[in-house]
Amino acid sequence: MKKATKAAALGLAAVMMAAALTACGGKTDTNKADDTAASGTQTQQTDASAPAQEQGETPAAGGTLTFGTNAEFPPFEFVAGSGVIDQYDGIDMAIAKKIAEENGMTAAVENMEFDSLLIALHNGQIDAAIAGMTVTEERKEQADFSTPYYTATQVMIVKEDSTIASAADMADKKICVIQGYTGEICVKDLGYPYEAFKKGTDAIMELVNGKCDVVVIDSATAQKYVGDNEGLKIVEDAAAFESEEYAIAVKKGNTELLNKINQSIEGMLSDGTVAELGAQYIEAISAE
Ligand code: ARG
Repeated sequence: MKKATKAAALGLAAVMMAAALTACGGKTDTNKADDTAASGTQTQQTDASAPAQEQGETPAAGGTLTFGTNAEFPPFEFVAGSGVIDQYDGIDMAIAKKIAEENGMTAAVENMEFDSLLIALHNGQIDAAIAGMTVTEERKEQADFSTPYYTATQVMIVKEDSTIASAADMADKKICVIQGYTGEICVKDLGYPYEAFKKGTDAIMELVNGKCDVVVIDSATAQKYVGDNEGLKIVEDAAAFESEEYAIAVKKGNTELLNKINQSIEGMLSDGTVAELGAQYIEAISAE
């Protein structure tokens, strides 16, 4: 059993860092300071005038806070026999549940394709999206993002005997990515051809079956797949893939909900809850 604990350790160590980078371009996230400043000292509002579904605003205390996710992304969200919210388990699900509870609400999950999350937010089908979602400049045009709670990076998963040792080595190789993930954006930015799959597990099957040479995906999820499948390893290239930050998305302009989410997240970051959840779920992967 492969245990790529290093990738996880890096992610955890970086949880509290305010790395101001997005995706692979290494661009400074200039709005981040504003996000943080806006979230510091908000008090809860108790306007319970209308259901969230109608106005796209925060559900009232006692109501349901509906999180959209794509439960194909362990250790952040995956379907389990019994999870923290219904059958959904993972770091994000535990965070979502806490946010709802701290605000006197019950968390519900709508599982959908990753690509549909920001549209569902816009339509008011969900109140917030929590999906290991990396903050990018493009996505910030479609939604508002919370204070980041996790730092990750793209890595390459290859067969143990692969000669790929850096991103540049992928140039003449068959590359697999997951549709709509930042990994796809990174490979596109590098200018290499690739094939995109709907699910991480589908891309991994291609790799295991020798139909592709490398899968580019987020670090902690890569660690899970390498642990689950014999004969795979992780290759990192910090120069090609810079750090990414995961945050919760809300509908643009829904500052009331965003403030509540930020208050909860900042509490969970400072009291060590997020780090504990990371350790718990990533350790579970290594021990499998
Ligand atoms: N961090 C990557 C991104 O934002 C991948 C996220 C995939 N998340 C999921 N729940 N499937 O694109």
